[in-house]
Amino acid sequence: MKILVINGPNLDRLGMREKNIYGSLKLNEINEIIQNYFKNKNTFIDFIQSNDEGKIISEIGNSEEKYNGIVINPGAYSHYSIGILDAIRGINIPVVEVHLSNIHSREEYRKKTITGEGCLGVISGFGHYSYIMAINALIDFYSKS
Ligand code: DQA
Repeated sequence: MKILVINGPNLDRLGMREKNIYGSLKLNEINEIIQNYFKNKNTFIDFIQSNDEGKIISEIGNSEEKYNGIVINPGAYSHYSIGILDAIRGINIPVVEVHLSNIHSREEYRKKTITGEGCLGVISGFGHYSYIMAINALIDFYSKS
């Protein structure tokens, strides 16, 4: 099982930005926790982060041959990027969207996720554990198919 975890804009600043909302862990610390969690579980995970919508779209488009599934936190792009939605819809591997914060308990404009419309599911509000739940959801998806 090979999974690509994609983090979008401003997530490179975790641990520095709005700690009251996103917590004090840095992105590399979160990635390490995830990597350790799935060690010895026959799951291989690559991580990328980009602030660039076009790069995220290209990474999604190129992922099919290399990965069984994607976990994506599109950050603010979640709320308006039809380009990322189209990229997700255009591939034949499952995508699970995650958010550290509970987007439904925040501002109105964060409650809708456009990109989530193309995903197998959306997990929101569990901090870095959202990513672990999403990877488990992908493993579970394949165990049933
Ligand atoms: C976020 C929620 C988004 O609304 C916000 O723009 C982010 C982070 C989250 O993980 O909670 O950058 O995706």
